[in-house]
Amino acid sequence: MDIEKVGVVGCGLMGSGIAEVAAKAGLDVLVHEMTDDLVDAGQGRIRRSLDRAVEKEKLSASDRDGAWGRLRFTTELSELADRDLVIEAIVEEIEAKKKLLSALDGLCGPETILASNTSSLTITDMAAATARPDRVVGLHFFNPVPVMALVEVVRTIATSDEAFRAVFSFAERLGKKPITAKDNSGFVVNLLLVPYMLDAIRQLERGVASIQDIDQAMTLGLGHPMGPFTLCDFVGIDTVLRISEIMFDEYRERRYAPPPLLRRLVSMGRFGKKTGQGFYDWSGEQPVPLPL
Ligand code: CAA
Ligand code: NAD
Repeated sequence: MDIEKVGVVGCGLMGSGIAEVAAKAGLDVLVHEMTDDLVDAGQGRIRRSLDRAVEKEKLSASDRDGAWGRLRFTTELSELADRDLVIEAIVEEIEAKKKLLSALDGLCGPETILASNTSSLTITDMAAATARPDRVVGLHFFNPVPVMALVEVVRTIATSDEAFRAVFSFAERLGKKPITAKDNSGFVVNLLLVPYMLDAIRQLERGVASIQDIDQAMTLGLGHPMGPFTLCDFVGIDTVLRISEIMFDEYRERRYAPPPLLRRLVSMGRFGKKTGQGFYDWSGEQPVPLPL
C-alpha cells in the first residue's frame, strides 16, 4: 500500500514537525487544528523551521516553496476523509485520543491507517476505540522532528502486516531510521528516558546540586546534547507530567511517579520553552535558571 496523502491532527511542537518532514518528502499533507488561531500558530512554526533550513543551506528555496505548496490546513476534521494515513499529535490524554480515533474511524475510508505519536499511552487502548484495530499503529517521532532520525514504529497484537509494512516504509521515505517496538507504555526510549528526567528533578528536590550544575554534569560528563532540565523544558513540562502519570499508572513503579516539583511547575503554568518559563527563563538570549 502506497501512502501519498497524509493527515496530521494537532499542529503543536510535534505535529508541526511531522507535517514539515512529510511535505519535504513530497507527500500531500493536510493538517488539522482546533481553531483558526491554532492553525496560524502551527503554520508559523512550520514556516519558520523551513526558512531556517534555507538560511542554513540545508534546503533550497525552491524545495521550501515546493514543501510549503504541499501543505494545507483545516479546522474541519471531515476533510481528512480521503487520507491514506492520519497521524495524531494531540494532547497526551487517552480520552481525547480515543474520541479522535473513533471520529476518524467513522470519517475515513476503510483503507486509511490511523497512527498515534503518543509518548506513553498504549496503541492498543486507542485501536480498541475503532472498528479497524488492524490498521492502527504507533509512529513515535522525536523532538525536534526535522532533526532527530529515530521513529519508533509500534504494532499491537491486532496490527496487520500490511499496515505495519506501509508505515515502516513511510518512516523511511521521510528520511528517518525506524525501529520496531512492542506496544508497551513508553515503547523503548521513554522507558529509559522518563525515569532519568524524573530522577534529575528528585535530585534537585534533595538539593544535591543546582539546575545548571546538574545540566552541565550531563552535557560535559556524558556528552549529552542537553541536560535533563533543558530537555524537560524542551519536551514541555506539562507533557512530562502527563507521561509520568500515565507510566506510573501503568507500571506502579516509583521511578515513574511524578515528583511534587513537577506538579508545582505545571500548576504555575510553567510548561517550559513553549510558554517562556519552566526550569529556565527562555525570554533572553540564553536560558536563565529560575529560583525554585
Ligand atoms: N527544527 C529544525 N531544526 C532544528 C531545530 C528545530 N526545532 N532545532 C535545531 N535544529 C537544527 C539546527 O538547524 C542545526 O542544524 P545544522 O547543524 O545542520 O546547522 C542543528 O539542529 C543543531 O542546532 P543548534 O546548533 O541550533 O543547536 P544544538 O547544537 O544545541 O542542537 C538539538 C539542538 C538538535 C535540539 C540538540 O540539542 C539535541 O539533540 N538535543 C536533544 C534532543 C532530544 O533528546 N530529543 C528527544 C526528546 S524526547 C522525545 O522527543 C520523546 C518523547 O516522547 C518525549
Ligand atoms: P503540544 O501541546 O505542543 O501540541 C498539541 C496540539 O494538539 C496543540 O496545538 C493543540 O491545539 C492540539 N490539540 C489538543 N487537543 C486536541 C484535540 N482534542 N483535538 C485536536 N487537537 C488537539 O504537544 P506536543 O508536544 O506536540 O505533543 C503532542 C503529542 O506528541 C503527545 O501525545 C506527546 O506525548 C507526543 N510527543 C511529544 C514529544 C515532545 O517532545 N513534546 C515527543 C514525542 C511525542
